[in-house]
Amino acid sequence: MTSFWNWYVTILSLGTIAALTWLLFATRKGQRPDSSEQTTGHTYDGIEEYDNPLPKWWFMMFIGTIVFSLGYLALYPGLGNWKGILPGYENGWTGVAQWEKEVAKADEQYGPLFAKYAAMPVAEVAQDEQALKMGGRLFASNCSVCHGSDAKGAYGFPNLTDDDWLYGGEPDTIKTTILHGRTAAMPGWKDVIGEDGIRHTAGYVRSLSGLENPEGLKVDLAAGQKIFETNCVVCHGPDAKGLQMLGAPNLTDRVWLYGSSFAQISQTLRHGRNGHMPAQEAFLGNDKVHLLAAYVYSLSQSAGEKN
Ligand code: HEC
Ligand code: HEC
Repeated sequence: MTSFWNWYVTILSLGTIAALTWLLFATRKGQRPDSSEQTTGHTYDGIEEYDNPLPKWWFMMFIGTIVFSLGYLALYPGLGNWKGILPGYENGWTGVAQWEKEVAKADEQYGPLFAKYAAMPVAEVAQDEQALKMGGRLFASNCSVCHGSDAKGAYGFPNLTDDDWLYGGEPDTIKTTILHGRTAAMPGWKDVIGEDGIRHTAGYVRSLSGLENPEGLKVDLAAGQKIFETNCVVCHGPDAKGLQMLGAPNLTDRVWLYGSSFAQISQTLRHGRNGHMPAQEAFLGNDKVHLLAAYVYSLSQSAGEKN
C-alpha cells in the first residue's frame, strides 16, 4: 500500500471517531439532567416530541463503541505503519501471512508423524489406519480435482482403485509417479497412415479386446494389424499389452482412458494423447507424497481383494 492510502485510512478512521465523540458530547451539553414533560414544540399528526436527554445507558453504549474502536485500532495493525500491540503481526496483517502461520503450526504438529511414516516402507504404511486417514485427507485436497473424490478417475484421468496401471502399481513406482509426475507421449498418426489407415487400425485395436466394429465402415482388420505391427509395437508391445516404462496402456483389456467407441479411438489415433500428471515433490514434499503413495496403493489392494 502506498503511504497515501495509509494516511487516507488513518485520517478517515481517527477523524470519524473524533467527530462522533464531539457530536455525542456537544448534543448532550445544555440538556436537563432528567426527564420532564417538556416538549420540543414539534407536533406531527397530533404526536408530540418530548425534549429529553439521551438515556444514560444509551449514552454509555456510544461511549463503549468508541472505546472499543480505539482499543481495536491499538491492538491490531491497520493504521499507517502501526504494528499493533498484539504479538505476531510484526509484518502487518495479510491473508498469506496468516496462512503461512497456520501451515507452520500444522507442520510443527504433524511433522514428526509424517517423518515417522516416511521412514517406513510404503506397503507397510498402507496397513496403518491412521496413516491412511491422513493420506485420504491429502488426497481429497490435492488429487480429487482430477482423479475424483473416490479416486475412480474420469475421462483422461486414470482410475487409481483398480489394479490396471499405466506406469505400474508397485508401491515405489506409485511414489515415483506422484513425486516426479508423468507425461504420456502417444503420437498422432494422421499424417503417417492417413484416414483409411486410422479406420483400419482403430478397428483392429477394438478387436483386440473383443469389440465388434460398426458394419458399413469397411474396416480391414488385416491392414490394421499390419499398421499396428509396423508402428505401434515399439510402445504398446508385440502382444499389445502395453509397456509401463512408457506409460503405454494395455490395449487388450477393457479399461480405456479415452473411451472405447470407434470415434474416440479414431480420435486418439489421429491426434495422439498427452496425459499429464503434475509432479508433487516441490509442492507437497517427500513425506506427504509417501503417505499419498501408501493411500493410493491401499486403494488398489482392496480392489484386488474384492475381485
Ligand atoms: C511412442 C510410444 C507410442 C507409440 C508409437 C504408440 N503409442 Fe499409443 N499410447 C502411448 C501412450 C504413452 C499412451 C497413453 C496416453 C495417455 O495416457 O495420455 C497411448 C495411448 C493409446 C491409446 C488410448 C488407450 C486408452 O486407454 O484410451 C490407444 C488406442 C493407442 N495408444 C493406440 C496406438 C496405436 C494404434 C498406435 C500405432 C498406430 C500407437 N498407439 C502408437 C504410446 C505410444
Ligand atoms: C491436474 C490433474 C491431476 C492431478 C491434480 C493429479 N493427477 Fe494423477 N494423473 C493425472 C493424469 C492425467 C494421469 C495420467 C497420465 C497419463 O495419461 O499418462 C495421472 C496419473 C496418476 C497416477 C498413475 C496411474 C497409473 O495408472 O499408473 C497416479 C498413481 C496418480 N496420478 C496419483 C495422483 C495423486 C496421488 C495425486 C495427488 C497428489 C494426483 N495424481 C494428482 C492427473 C492429475
